[in-house]
Amino acid sequence: MTVLVVGATGSIGRLVVAEAVRQGHTVRALVRNPAKARQLPSEAQVVLGDVTRPDTLSNAVDGVDAILFTLGSDGAGKVGAERVDYGGVRNVLRALGPRKPRIALMTAIGVTNRTGAYNRATEAHDWKRRSERLVRASGLPYTIVRPGWFDYNGAAEHQLVLLQGDTRQAGDPSDGAVARRQIAEVLVRSLASNHALRKTFELIATTGPAQEDFDALFGPLDGDLQGALDGVHDMANMPLVDEPQRVRDDLDAVRVHQSSVGAP
Ligand SMILES: NC(=O)c1ccc[n+]([C@@H]2O[C@H](COP(=O)([O-])OP(=O)(O)OC[C@H]3O[C@@H](n4cnc5c(N)ncnc54)[C@H](OP(=O)(O)O)[C@@H]3O)[C@@H](O)[C@H]2O)c1
Repeated sequence: MTVLVVGATGSIGRLVVAEAVRQGHTVRALVRNPAKARQLPSEAQVVLGDVTRPDTLSNAVDGVDAILFTLGSDGAGKVGAERVDYGGVRNVLRALGPRKPRIALMTAIGVTNRTGAYNRATEAHDWKRRSERLVRASGLPYTIVRPGWFDYNGAAEHQLVLLQGDTRQAGDPSDGAVARRQIAEVLVRSLASNHALRKTFELIATTGPAQEDFDALFGPLDGDLQGALDGVHDMANMPLVDEPQRVRDDLDAVRVHQSSVGAP
C-alpha cells in the first residue's frame, strides 16, 4: 500500500513511518518543517504540507491507499485542538475527493471524558472525539485506536489489551499504558486487517508475551454500529443537537460527499 502518515515527525509518527517501511509499504510522510524530515528513514517520501492549510494537501493524498493520522497539537490549547486535531483530519478528508483510502486514526484513551480537568482546559478530548466522528461519518474503511499513556509500561508488558467503551477515565497512567513502539505496530497492522474494519478501541499493554496474530487480536472486538457517530460502547454524552453548528455542518458535508462518491 501507499500509506500517508499525517503527523509523521511526531513521537508516534516517526515510529509509524519506520514500522510501515518495515512492513513493506510505500510510505509518504506529511511534514511541515523540512528540517525535521531528516529524522525519517530514507525510504520515506517526504511531502511538505500543513494540515491547517488545505491548499498544501493535494499532493500528499494523490494516489494513497491508506492514511494514518498521528497528529497532535499538544500545548496549543483549545484553538490548536480544533485547528489541528480536528481541523487537520477534516481538511485531509476533504482533500481526498473521490479517493477512498483505508484510515487509521489515533486519538487517546479517555477521549469521551468531557468533565475532567484536562478536557475542560484544552477541549482536546472533545476535538479528538469529533475527529473520530468525522472519520466514522466519512464512510471510509477505518480503525480508530485510542492509546493509553505512552511508554509508562514496564519492561515485561509486551501483551496488548484492546478495550472498548472508554471506561478508564482517571486521567493518569492508572488508566493503562502502552509503548510508543506497540502503538505504531498496531496502527500499521490495522491497515491490512479486515478484522480491524469499523472498529474503535483503547490500547494498553500488560505483562505477558507479545501477540503475533493481529487478526486474532482485532477479531473479537465489536464493530461500530452502521451510521453511529461514536464508538460502539461509548458513553452517549455528546448529543449532536448540542454540538457547534460548524461541527454539524462538517458532518453533513462529509456524509453528502460520501453519498455522492459511493461506498468504497
Ligand atoms: N502522551 C500520552 O501518553 C498520550 C496518550 C494517548 C494519546 N496521546 C495523544 O497523542 C498525541 C501526541 O502524539 P505524539 O507524541 O506523536 O505527538 P507529537 O510528538 O507532538 O507530534 C505531533 C505531530 O503532529 C504534527 N503536526 C502538528 N500540527 C501540524 C500541522 N498544522 N500540520 C501538519 N502536521 C502537524 C507535528 O509536526 P511537527 O513535528 O512539525 O510539530 C508532529 O508530527 C497527542 O495529541 C496526545 O493527546 C498522548
